[in-house]
Amino acid sequence: MTLDGEIGQSPQGTIVKVGGANYRPGSLSTFADLFCGIGGFHIAAAALGLQCVYACDIDADARAAYQANFGVDPDGDISLVDPAHLPEFDILCAGFPCQPFSIIGDRRGMSDPRGTLFFEIIRIAKAKRPAAMVLENVRQLVTIRGGQVFQRIIRDIRALGYTVDYKVLNALNFGLPQKRERVLIVATLKRFADFPWPARKKPMKPLAKVLENKPDSRYLVSPRIRRARCAAHKSLHKPGIWHENKGGNISSHPFSCALRAGASYNYLLVDGKRRLTPREMLRLQGFPDRFKIIGNDSQVRKQTGNAVPVPLAQAAIKGVLKIHE
Ligand SMILES: C[S@@+](CC[C@H](N)C(=O)[O-])C[C@H]1O[C@@H](n2cnc3c(N)ncnc32)[C@H](O)[C@@H]1O
Repeated sequence: MTLDGEIGQSPQGTIVKVGGANYRPGSLSTFADLFCGIGGFHIAAAALGLQCVYACDIDADARAAYQANFGVDPDGDISLVDPAHLPEFDILCAGFPCQPFSIIGDRRGMSDPRGTLFFEIIRIAKAKRPAAMVLENVRQLVTIRGGQVFQRIIRDIRALGYTVDYKVLNALNFGLPQKRERVLIVATLKRFADFPWPARKKPMKPLAKVLENKPDSRYLVSPRIRRARCAAHKSLHKPGIWHENKGGNISSHPFSCALRAGASYNYLLVDGKRRLTPREMLRLQGFPDRFKIIGNDSQVRKQTGNAVPVPLAQAAIKGVLKIHE
């Protein structure tokens, strides 16, 4: 066990800081944050008193934001990580990349190296045997290729001796004004019959509380785009977020549709006239305002589009802690 305050050397030479006041006494106290991004899991776990002992992400901008906010220097490419050099941890958290799952079932036939990244989690879990895992991905993971991919994932985790459960959760039911459905997979070495998912929905925070009062004028769209949007759509919601789908259809809601890392620039517009600011995107994902914004607008758009909504991560981690009480 890595002790509070200890400093360890990661396999890629960076220092893993393990200090902090939040050390949680109890059976589970530490976590590793694989594919950490800007730290949705970190915020959720730290708020429950857990200590981060290791993080990694291949994206240098995300690593810089993580370091600036949490004082942990994440490693880079997970495929270069030698688990023998990692500290011990109780919970493995991972929001693994979701692009190429259509080919995950046939591992040898894979042409996209990103498709193998789930197996990096298995590789590390096999070596470290954390007491629990909390994984997150897009809702579609459950159903693509007739569910075969998902079954394979669950089977591989069970084969390591874990009891597994999963649930599709929507951020809208967890207090955030964002429709974002994600599958949360939980796995524990301790057996359980029923995983304690939250029984009740939390009312959505009003969109007005997420929007900034005086956003910079650089977020306004051009008069031409604004005119085209207003000609195509009349909204019943003020404030509202206008969403343009791939077919060009526009709808509006008193909440945001899912933030996406690679979406077009103007697919979400506040009241049909301006883009969301970085702070608003972070709030829509449940990041507190103390989170420091590192990077430019397009980096933050990508980072927030990739992040796990904090209350979803927290619901899953809370359940894991309950099982271990
Ligand atoms: C879905 S995002 C996870 C975001 C994170 N949970 C958060 O709350 O910000 C997946 C992350 O995996 C990272 N990634 C992709 N390939 C990787 C690799 N080979 N090694 C480490 N990280 C990788 C991406 O840069 C991205 O930040």
